[in-house]
Amino acid sequence: MPLWWICLSMHIHENIESTRSASRAAHREGKRIGLVPTMGALHEGHLSLVRAARSQCDLVVVSIFVNPTQFGPNEDFAKYPRMFERDCALLEKEGVGVVFAPSIGEMYPSGAVTYVTVEGMSDKLCGRSRPGHFRGVTTVVSKLFHIVEPDLAFFGQKDAAQVAIIKRMVRDLNMPVEIVVCPIVREPDGLAMSSRNAYLTPEQRKSALVLSRALRRVQQVFDQGERNAAKLIETGKQVMAEEASVRQDYLEIVDPETLEGVAVVSAKSLVAVAAFAGNTRLIDNVCL
Ligand code: PAJ
Repeated sequence: MPLWWICLSMHIHENIESTRSASRAAHREGKRIGLVPTMGALHEGHLSLVRAARSQCDLVVVSIFVNPTQFGPNEDFAKYPRMFERDCALLEKEGVGVVFAPSIGEMYPSGAVTYVTVEGMSDKLCGRSRPGHFRGVTTVVSKLFHIVEPDLAFFGQKDAAQVAIIKRMVRDLNMPVEIVVCPIVREPDGLAMSSRNAYLTPEQRKSALVLSRALRRVQQVFDQGERNAAKLIETGKQVMAEEASVRQDYLEIVDPETLEGVAVVSAKSLVAVAAFAGNTRLIDNVCL
């Protein structure tokens, strides 16, 4: 399907001012706006957020922007999958009204030096091994909120730390937006969907299943009555060790709101894991 056809029913904006005008015009008509921020290379996980937004809002805006400030110098910014036309075709089918796909220069004009940091949380979980990552996320998400002015914004539980940090930012800075969190979408064999799964060789793809297996095992032992965090973490790490080719980054049990480690686990605790299959960093989590 050629791109011009898609544009007839879905508006693609590269420009901040035209996006803001479209969104303000919708607000003037009394429409409720839902924003789904993404970096593109869309899969069913992203589309589940779009569907949730469609069911709760009159206009769905999806942003597609591979945000350079959330990638470290040795990370995959340059090779991150970019498939804009395919993404637009998927979004058009889902009834999305506006795609905001700015250039880097549009989002970060030269001389941009202002960042949003959620102190004390941005260095937890992925933030420890990816310094600056969450600062990049909160900065770009604040900018998207200012540009689109959504009533609701949709995020995936897949990135549990991102959710906690964005919720804290919205609360602390009195941002007038409601954060809606959607469940993790998995492949039939349990692997959490991710744009980065495309990097995996068939062999790595198989070994990557160890993340969800470890989480399931922790859940099982918790369900059998274990509440000692250290013991549950040990259980998860033992499963992770079954795949020698997968290098653990962390396996932690934390409070899902503060991201602080807990000693005694409760039904609301979050078990989060990150690991490398080859050079590909994968994350997964479960709320017990
Ligand atoms: P990205 O990785 O593209 O993810 C966009 C949104 O989709 C995030 O809210 C993420 O949690 C959600 N998502 C990804 N995989 C999912 C899955 N398997 N199930 C459910 N939801 C899933 O997260 C980002 O982009 C960026 O950090 C962003 C917020 C866009 C800021 O740049």
